[in-house]
Amino acid sequence: DGFTAQQLFNQGVCYTYDDVIFHPGHIYFPAHEVDLTCNVTKNIKLRVPIVSSPMDTVTEAEMAITMASLGGMGFLHYNNTLEEQLRQVQKAKSHTPGFIVTPAVLSPTDTVSKLYDLKASRGFSSVCVTDSGSLGGRLLGLVTTRDFDFVTDRMTPLAEVMTTDLVTAPEGTTPEAAAELLKKIKKNKLPIVNAAGELVGLATRAAAKESRSLPAPGAPSLDSAGRLRVGAAVGTRESDKERVRALWQVAGVDAVILDSSQGDSTYQISMIQHIKASHPGLDVIAGNVVTGAQARRLIEAGADGLRVGMGSGSICTTQEVCAVGRGQATAVYHVARVANALGVPIIADGGIQNSGHITKALALGASAVMCGSLFAGTTEAPGEYFTLNGQRVKKYRGMGSLEAMAKGSESRYLSDTQALKIAQGVSGAVKDKGSVRRTVPFLAQAVKQGFQDLGANSISAARELLYGGGMRVEARTNAAQAEGNVHDMVAFEKRPW
Ligand code: XMP
Repeated sequence: DGFTAQQLFNQGVCYTYDDVIFHPGHIYFPAHEVDLTCNVTKNIKLRVPIVSSPMDTVTEAEMAITMASLGGMGFLHYNNTLEEQLRQVQKAKSHTPGFIVTPAVLSPTDTVSKLYDLKASRGFSSVCVTDSGSLGGRLLGLVTTRDFDFVTDRMTPLAEVMTTDLVTAPEGTTPEAAAELLKKIKKNKLPIVNAAGELVGLATRAAAKESRSLPAPGAPSLDSAGRLRVGAAVGTRESDKERVRALWQVAGVDAVILDSSQGDSTYQISMIQHIKASHPGLDVIAGNVVTGAQARRLIEAGADGLRVGMGSGSICTTQEVCAVGRGQATAVYHVARVANALGVPIIADGGIQNSGHITKALALGASAVMCGSLFAGTTEAPGEYFTLNGQRVKKYRGMGSLEAMAKGSESRYLSDTQALKIAQGVSGAVKDKGSVRRTVPFLAQAVKQGFQDLGANSISAARELLYGGGMRVEARTNAAQAEGNVHDMVAFEKRPW
């Protein structure tokens, strides 16, 4: 009954996630017992197999910190200077795990008007005030909505409205201790300061309450020194060698991604060989690839992980513009088959729109998924909210869009002419999605339920079913896909993310 993946994906047709459906397996365990622990590279384990994409509208320090705090991992983009990228890695590596709120910070001479701007663009209702106007400055006060609601003169400096009588907690306070203290002092915010009185983080009642009500995510992703895991993307130009050296030796990055839409190149092979020879201990994720032959070449060069997908991303036009690529479900299956046999994990990158897509990618052999659009438009994504056709949105753009390339990302697309740029992506906007602190735990829980239905209590159990032929799959007709979605009704409930 049904087909093995081997049969389905070898018929001269390529499929994407929505085209395929799995037969349910036999359930012999509760969903909460499903273990989603995965290796995102040969040497890096994550409890939640979800990572954020190195795109300049998706992952900067705040996203990387939050993803790692939730048990996943973030990969910082490199559409910036080396100094800026180093600063982002260092910010993430020095973050105290648990305090997942990065406070908004202003200086005492900033005005109430600036506070309203911040409220509209970033959604903050309170800010910390420090002498430098940034995190790391000496804490002077806190301004909450209650302090400025009735202030009529918007030019009033914050020094005049801020609360200075503050309860703070010392650096190193555990999240549990901070939650207890918030309960005891009956306040909503608890700034965390170091011995010099400098602001290092903020614990909030809302974050504490939310983390209690959400399904448990994984434990934070930490390196051997207890710091959050963080990855970063680089290119394959000569100058990228210095970027890699500094990211590893100065900032302590955990893994680098060689960021290219077509990774099967001599440039990547020599970059992998250079990194493995010069920086033992640093993991390299190569790609992107979509075939077993491409995967084998990069693995033989020394790749510790592979990113899979070409033209499957929501903002991608690679398949349209360059006539190359592959349906994502087929690409994941074929690359995973080669890479898993050689002991190298793969990340299914692009095209993930819901928890079902994640379950499908993992069941087809991926060790983790990488998301762009799912996380764009969240509070943690870079950029500011604005209103478009009455909706609150944030910008989301492909790294091969003209707009992103104008800022320097054209090396991802091996563009060798400055005169004529060919875009392989678009730019646009996505709806406000709230915080990834809500999205990721929901996705992880939904994937656990999917695994339970498949009868696999871990990623390795799913592998046994996949390669042993116990996993049965079929392609869906358009009508079957329509039947599998909500139909013939007006739905009142939306997905929680
Ligand atoms: P999603 O579907 O999650 O996809 O939004 C994110 C992934 O898309 C890739 N990416 C691009 N692909 N042109 C492309 O062909 C682009 O401009 C572009 N920008 C990003 C990338 O792999 C990312 O993780």
